[in-house]
Amino acid sequence: MTKQATILAIDTSCDDTSIAISRGWEVLSNIVASQNQIHKQFGGVFPSKAKQAHRENFMPALKSALRQAQKSWQDIDAIAVTYGPGLAPALEVGIRFAQNLAKEKKKKLIIINHIEGHALSPLALPQGRMANFSIQKWPKLALVVSGGHTEFILMKGLGEYQILGRTIDDAAGECLDKVGRMLNLGYPAGPLIEEFAKKGNPQRFNFPLPMTDKHHFDLSFSGLKTAARIQIQALEEEEKLDAQTTADLAASIQEAVFAHILYKLERLLYSEDLSASSYPSREKMKEIQNPQRKEKIKVSPIEEIFLGGGVAANLYLRKKIRQLLKDYQKNTGKEISFVVPYRKKLCSDNAAMIAVAAQWHYQNKNFASPDKIERSPQLVLE
Ligand code: KG4
Ligand code: ZN
Repeated sequence: MTKQATILAIDTSCDDTSIAISRGWEVLSNIVASQNQIHKQFGGVFPSKAKQAHRENFMPALKSALRQAQKSWQDIDAIAVTYGPGLAPALEVGIRFAQNLAKEKKKKLIIINHIEGHALSPLALPQGRMANFSIQKWPKLALVVSGGHTEFILMKGLGEYQILGRTIDDAAGECLDKVGRMLNLGYPAGPLIEEFAKKGNPQRFNFPLPMTDKHHFDLSFSGLKTAARIQIQALEEEEKLDAQTTADLAASIQEAVFAHILYKLERLLYSEDLSASSYPSREKMKEIQNPQRKEKIKVSPIEEIFLGGGVAANLYLRKKIRQLLKDYQKNTGKEISFVVPYRKKLCSDNAAMIAVAAQWHYQNKNFASPDKIERSPQLVLE
């Protein structure tokens, strides 16, 4: 990277008002004003309340971001803002503030896809750390797992992205949240599922592995949610939903959600050219798992895996991916590195990941005109 830009980034894509400042890959501040207390009572995000809270939280968050980074407006090279995907009324607030600030402070404006932020979040470094070895390793596979998205993204370089597979219905985090809600765990339920699962038996309830007969890298979580609902209703009717059963259900649904992701990830790594047409057959997977195998396995072109999104905070998911990569290395001799964001705060929605993603846009002079930004709630990364 040439000049390291100092970027002030804004993300209001869903229910967190976040403002951050980065210099190069270094995060100088990352303020997140959470709205969990507001949306808790609805069990999900209430768009008009999110919009109102973003408006109220914006200026205090901006002041804190500048203060914590020890920067003033004259140090800022550009303003970056998320323009999609997300909730339209929420995106709108961040975009309006960014437009007005860019005009008032005479700053360049960069618009960022929220998913690019999650995908590149493992590039972020804590203050004082400059060397980023990941920047030399391409192609990478970004696995973005959040409350709104579950995607496998091939990244050949910065800005060169191709979606290899994605959920066709619910996101993984959404599935965990909904099942957690059925179990009355609290909001958002993903982290609580992880906690309860530690005390539970993941083998007690057998949830089906989705889409094993589909030879592509898409995912589906709505069937798991329905299977969990049926199971929970039956247990409630029999008055058998005690504390241990709740923990066992949390462990079992977490196991099933991650098994589905890992199943597709493993096939992706054993797919020769990463296209659905080279999806490994059952016979090939059996051959790979056979320790007496004679044939050499063709290795994946992928050099590194980046894990991002709210669910990336889950330590059990990280452990499962590490184990898969260890087995992969045993089978093929190829080491694929694995990077997660350096802090859990960088997994869930935050503006530091937007600032980090904005770096290469700044270098490429991908600037937007402040008068011409439109929110794009259904934006796709491609
Ligand atoms: O990235 P994020 O903050 O928002 C979206 O862009 O969706 O992700 C939020 C999601 C929620 O579904 C939340 O339950 C889940 O991430 N989550 C977790 C954990 N921490 C957050 N899921 C499982 N285990 C966790 N530790
Ligand atoms: Zn997100």
